[in-house]
Amino acid sequence: MVKLNNNLLKLETEDIFMNVGEKVSEYKKENPGVNLLNLGVGDVSLPIVPTVIKEMEKAVLELGNGKTFKGYGAYYGHDFLREKIVEEEYNSLNITKDEIYISIGTKTDTTNILELFDKKAKMCLFNPSYPIYRDGGIISGREIEYLELYEEDNFIPRIPKGKYDLIYICSPSNPLGIALPKNELKKWIEYAIANDSIILYDNVYESFITSDDVPHSIYEIDGAKRVAIEFRSFSKRASFTGIRCSYYVIPNELHLKGLDSKSININELWKKRTIAKFNGADYIVQKGAWATYLEQAKPEIRANINYYLENAKYIKEALESLSFKVFGGENAPFLWVKTRNNMSSWAYFDFLLNELNIVVIPGCIFGKKGDKYIRISALATREVTVESMERIKEYYEKEL
Ligand SMILES: Cc1ncc(COP(=O)(O)O)c(C=O)c1O
Repeated sequence: MVKLNNNLLKLETEDIFMNVGEKVSEYKKENPGVNLLNLGVGDVSLPIVPTVIKEMEKAVLELGNGKTFKGYGAYYGHDFLREKIVEEEYNSLNITKDEIYISIGTKTDTTNILELFDKKAKMCLFNPSYPIYRDGGIISGREIEYLELYEEDNFIPRIPKGKYDLIYICSPSNPLGIALPKNELKKWIEYAIANDSIILYDNVYESFITSDDVPHSIYEIDGAKRVAIEFRSFSKRASFTGIRCSYYVIPNELHLKGLDSKSININELWKKRTIAKFNGADYIVQKGAWATYLEQAKPEIRANINYYLENAKYIKEALESLSFKVFGGENAPFLWVKTRNNMSSWAYFDFLLNELNIVVIPGCIFGKKGDKYIRISALATREVTVESMERIKEYYEKEL
């Protein structure tokens, strides 16, 4: 009999967020008619903006016309989108179209990229961190080590003494809602250069950055092109969670040692891998992604991002007025909140669900160091956000 990839059995559940989902479904079944407010989901609540929808409609019609029909061919993405990304996102950073890969989601991209590296390459994850990196490492049978993050450091990671080969950095961070300023990221680039490491830089929340000291791309830091791969997505920026479009940058300067210690250009190699395994992202969706950069679309998209950032501000102010300890929310649509009375994440999750009918994500889902915290999403509608805070205020104001 064919043997299984037993690494798959090491995955905790099909999707750890399902634990939350199951608890919520059970609660709903037992308490029909209750108005549950969901601040847990990481999905967006606002639709795709009108300018983008119009361009996607046009793209649909193009595919129905023999003269404009498009089929296979754009393995790394259509030139119109890659060129637009270079112009709009990497202007002045000297990134070229050939270094951009268009894909179907950063979840897929940040785990697929592991195919590039030898199985023995030691992977380093922050604890807490976005759990998909861990699952990708587990499936591919890798050794994973964790670097703990501490509240007293405001969850800014400490540069490790030991040597790690692959380091995932998510900034702005899900779940922490914080973003690393340039001086902190610079330390990681220096570390990677000194240790021959690769930084896998998950920058899907880039469009939420508001602080001047937070770089919009890791390539703003000298030397980063030699050691970092950057990932970005249209999911949260443009409500593409349901239609899937992402991109990542593999700079030409990035080289690894191959057979006989020969220096290999990773970008060229990944092109071969991409042709072998991927037939390109959907044309209609790429047209939509391209349209997000049209002058008419920009203010529409900015309004959506501001809406979520205003939600975040509202949540932060409401909770801080009740003496909660709150992190994040200024450069990302997430808030990382300390539970009350030293309660565990799950106990506090249960309390909020049962007493206030509010759903959040228990912090321990993102790693042991996430216990005694919850993650609150600012991606819900304003109504749900405001009503949730009203319920929390009403409960705690009695206590104060
Ligand atoms: C940090 C982080 N990376 C990646 C993703 C997945 O992005 P995509 O929808 O492009 O797969 C998410 C989605 O929640 C995320 O929070």
